[in-house]
Amino acid sequence: MTRFTRKHNRIGILTSGGDCAGLNAAIRAVTFRAIEQHGLAVVGINDGTAGLLERPVKHMDLTMKVFAGNYLRMGGTMLGTVNKGDPFAYPMPDGSIKDRSAEAIEGFRMLDLDALIGIGGDGSMRILSRLAEQGRIPFIGIPKTIDNDVARTDFAIGYMSAVDVAVDALDRLQPTAASHRRVMVLEVMGRDVGWIAIAAGIAGGADVVLIPEVPVSIAKVAAKLKAVSAQGRNHALVVVAEGVRLPPETDLKADCRSAGGIVADMIEKATGAETRVTVLGHVQRGGSPNAFDRILASSLGAHAADLAARGLSDRIVIWDRGKIVDVPLSSVAGQTRALKLDGTLVETARRMGICLGD
Ligand code: F6P
Repeated sequence: MTRFTRKHNRIGILTSGGDCAGLNAAIRAVTFRAIEQHGLAVVGINDGTAGLLERPVKHMDLTMKVFAGNYLRMGGTMLGTVNKGDPFAYPMPDGSIKDRSAEAIEGFRMLDLDALIGIGGDGSMRILSRLAEQGRIPFIGIPKTIDNDVARTDFAIGYMSAVDVAVDALDRLQPTAASHRRVMVLEVMGRDVGWIAIAAGIAGGADVVLIPEVPVSIAKVAAKLKAVSAQGRNHALVVVAEGVRLPPETDLKADCRSAGGIVADMIEKATGAETRVTVLGHVQRGGSPNAFDRILASSLGAHAADLAARGLSDRIVIWDRGKIVDVPLSSVAGQTRALKLDGTLVETARRMGICLGD
């Protein structure tokens, strides 16, 4: 529900949660549209909600001149971010947990802002919407995360650039796999969901893709790899999402190997094939945004600025089947968008003969 109707003159913007490619493009889009079209002033808050807890509050004025350089093309976030330090349960140096939400709201007020635009993932949206509710701060969200698990939006900023990195890795792994007759295991990010893994697996020609949405049977994986070998191919590619659900006897948290490492060991044992593991890690988060993420960030950012100028709030801007629209924040905050088992990516993977471990 939209509760605030005051027209905003001075808006704040922050990035929150893990960084990804395209954040600077989104900050730029908000700034350009807010200044050029609506005559608003834009203030960047540094280091996410942590910046609001600092005194003086860490911030910078965002002007057209600030973006005279390279930001559209740059990875990371020019404002800085945090993915720890929830102001509602802030970890203090003495080990205690403190609710510092009132301080964060006070920090927002100190900047004399009328509204806040937050670029974040599902966790950040939950925290920021709660903060906005408590402080009666008009708030608009922009979805980002390489995991692509923000509810309602088909694409979150950063996802497609991360997929490109993973596909590039598979392109590089295939020739060395073929040369050495190996099974190459590539572990990609995706704490709770398999969006990166499945898209990269389809685009990069993987034989097996293991995702959190589908519990894994190593016997099924081994059968697929043996079939590949029987067809005359001397190598194979396996993509593993970091949050993969392995057989019950495997305790991922207690095991010091990566998820990809555990899968590789299991494959070696079950098939006798020689395996190697690559854990892509934060390489997927840094680097330049691809063209799609620049377009997505520009569209979402400009739309968010328009909402702020109209005095609307409690909205999140999304990409819904090719259209940029806004929906209530409450329909998104605190939810995780898993891959649909009857959705296009999973179905395409199966149609291409990719084994999902079931
Ligand atoms: O949520 C994005 C993400 O990149 C996950 O895929 C990954 O599990 C996590 O962040 C890593 O977080 P950190 O930067 O704290 O290591």
